[in-house]
Amino acid sequence: MFMRGRPITMFIPSDVENYEDVRIELPSERLKLEWVYGYRGRDCRANVYLLPTGEIVYFIASVVVLFNYEERTQRHYLGHTDCIKCLAIHPDKIRIATGQIAGVDKDGRALQPHVRVWDSVSLSTLQVIGLGTFERGVGSLAFSKADSGQHLTVIDDCNDHMLTVWNWQKKSKIAEIKTTNEVVLSVEFHPTDPNTIVTYGKSHIFFWTWNGNSLVRKQGIFGKYEKPKFVQCLVFLRTGDILTGDSGGVLLVWTRSSAETVPGKGPRGGHVVAGHEGSVFCMCEMRSGTLLTGGGKDRKIILWDHELRADREIEVPDQYGAIRALSEGKGEEFLVGTSRNFILRGTFNDGFLVEVQVRAHDIMKLIEADGYSLDPVRPWFLYLCDGFRVSVGPLLYLCDGFRVSVALRWEHGHCADFHPSGAVVAIGTHSGRWFVLDAETTDLVGIHTDGNEQLSVMRFSVDGNMLAVGSHDNFIYLYNVSDRGRKYSRYGKCTGHSSYITHLDWSPDNHYIMSNSGDYEILYWDVTKGCELIRNRSECKDIDWATYTCVLGFHVFGVWPEGSDGTDINALMRSNNRKVIALADDFCKVHLFAYPCSKAKAPSHKYSAHSSHVTNVSFLFNDSHLISTGGKDTSIMQWRMRSVPMCPRPWCPQRVPPGEPRCPPAEP
Ligand SMILES: *[C@@H]1O[C@H](CO)[C@@H](O)[C@H](O)[C@H]1NC(C)=O
Ligand SMILES: *[C@@H]1O[C@H](CO)[C@@H](O)[C@H](O)[C@H]1NC(C)=O
Ligand SMILES: *[C@@H]1O[C@H](CO)[C@@H](O)[C@H](O)[C@H]1NC(C)=O
Ligand SMILES: *[C@@H]1O[C@H](CO)[C@@H](O)[C@H](O)[C@H]1NC(C)=O
Repeated sequence: MFMRGRPITMFIPSDVENYEDVRIELPSERLKLEWVYGYRGRDCRANVYLLPTGEIVYFIASVVVLFNYEERTQRHYLGHTDCIKCLAIHPDKIRIATGQIAGVDKDGRALQPHVRVWDSVSLSTLQVIGLGTFERGVGSLAFSKADSGQHLTVIDDCNDHMLTVWNWQKKSKIAEIKTTNEVVLSVEFHPTDPNTIVTYGKSHIFFWTWNGNSLVRKQGIFGKYEKPKFVQCLVFLRTGDILTGDSGGVLLVWTRSSAETVPGKGPRGGHVVAGHEGSVFCMCEMRSGTLLTGGGKDRKIILWDHELRADREIEVPDQYGAIRALSEGKGEEFLVGTSRNFILRGTFNDGFLVEVQVRAHDIMKLIEADGYSLDPVRPWFLYLCDGFRVSVGPLLYLCDGFRVSVALRWEHGHCADFHPSGAVVAIGTHSGRWFVLDAETTDLVGIHTDGNEQLSVMRFSVDGNMLAVGSHDNFIYLYNVSDRGRKYSRYGKCTGHSSYITHLDWSPDNHYIMSNSGDYEILYWDVTKGCELIRNRSECKDIDWATYTCVLGFHVFGVWPEGSDGTDINALMRSNNRKVIALADDFCKVHLFAYPCSKAKAPSHKYSAHSSHVTNVSFLFNDSHLISTGGKDTSIMQWRMRSVPMCPRPWCPQRVPPGEPRCPPAEP
């Protein structure tokens, strides 16, 4: 194999009798997305709603999640190919429009931004709009209301913030106009006046008159009121007036009559209500006609009566962050999306319940599967997230059957492994320090240091008597482990890699280690001799490996795409039953390959849900599930793995008894 023009030598194991005859087929196993952890609140707005089906709809990465919090079930709309940025509900409350950004695929070709209109009951796509029209990405969208949702209006996030109006069922664009070079935050159709569209954002609010095919702009006049930095949100009052909330914490009422007194000018803002400290970030009208506003900085939710008098208020606790989305729930309840990617359900009397969480900004976060389906397996998994940047390089480890909760406040975790007894977890950090925590109590059991560079892999031997610590300083440090992972003493140091350690695996007899480096090396080490480099690598071709996470090796090299520069694959893991390899690639995809995969250009099943590089994949202990983590998209996906029986073709489908899984379609 060649990588960046350098040869990588691999030796064919003795049990491969005739390498020429080796064929790699698609695996009979398949993945199905079962659960999505996370919500995109940090940089999106107005994206959490309750549907008549009792589900909360929101999005993360390229998945729209429909979450029934009472039954703890999720359904997913998976039509998008890149990050979703905005969502609008049709007046019938069944159809939904979601807009995505512009991305690039793995060959560098542009993935065009577009809007998908889909049915939230059947999850079928009804229309795809704007391919080739939108440039930068769909920033905001809204259905018309006065004409029962026949039209859709969209703001493109390009420099001119193009406003387009579509007859979405006919897929035809009927009007288009540049709005402004300033930031445009949102667009809305007037609920009763079919000819009015409102856009707003940085220091402006525009009222657009739409007469079928052209759009005429009128600028809202702040007059004697201070022009806000941002108009952040808006609701249409039952009087036909418009209420805006801005970054100065002010609510302004815009009446229609005020526009008529100034010919050619837009409405004039009037009737100021001071509500929040800092910005009013979102608003929603309740069924009763009262109004809720949510603050950015003050994290307050205020209920306003029909005369716009503040009636009640409640503060969202600090740890959830600022309010990003607010909508009406069942009964007295309201739903809140926050900047730290939580979705809360609350009432003024009872406070908040957390419904959705993945705290991208936290130093380290345990995602509990508590109550989140998966019964009776209940696997707990530990998720480390590199804190202060927006979620770079999440790390994941799965453990099963016992609960881990960790509050590692000292440093960013980078890699981790549980002792085979399950008693402790060893966590490697940026600085070369590593921590051992009691898996049950999360008490600190020990702190050790190896070198002063980032640790990239921690892996216990199969018998749990040794720990290998791979570092960016090119060494693997070996420790003797005793007392079920509570005592460590340095046993050796593996010296020989010319670049940082990326992956390593142990042999089942605990005698050998295979390792990869940033320089695409594959080296083998004899642990019994104090970690001696095995110079004749051909001698290692028949060693069995207890785990397979090395991305370079004879058994896995077929997973590499042609002409790879070595950065296309972030992680892989062989399933415990040794049938498949799951792979995390740099282009948002999770792959499933057959194992072994020892022929170039092997075929794989490919799965989309992430919208940035996939940082890691891991199987649960009995291969029932795969977990994958996204980088910038801050999501965690839980996939169920199913085995579809392989059957002799072509007469197979007729012979499958009713009720049995059908065969996969024949490959061309
Ligand atoms: C995995 O284990 C769980 C419970 O321990 C069980 O319900 C499930 O059927 C197992 N899956 C497989 C594929 O063996
Ligand atoms: C990837 O996940 C495995 C657990 O399956 C864990 O041991 C490893 O540290 C993770 N690596 C990174 C870089 O997150
Ligand atoms: C450490 O482990 C090695 C390899 O298993 C063993 O040979 C050695 O005796 C151990 N040392 C101690 C102090 O336990
Ligand atoms: C390396 O090991 C193989 C056996 O696996 C042997 O045939 C070969 O001669 C060895 N090469 C060297 C240079 O020792």
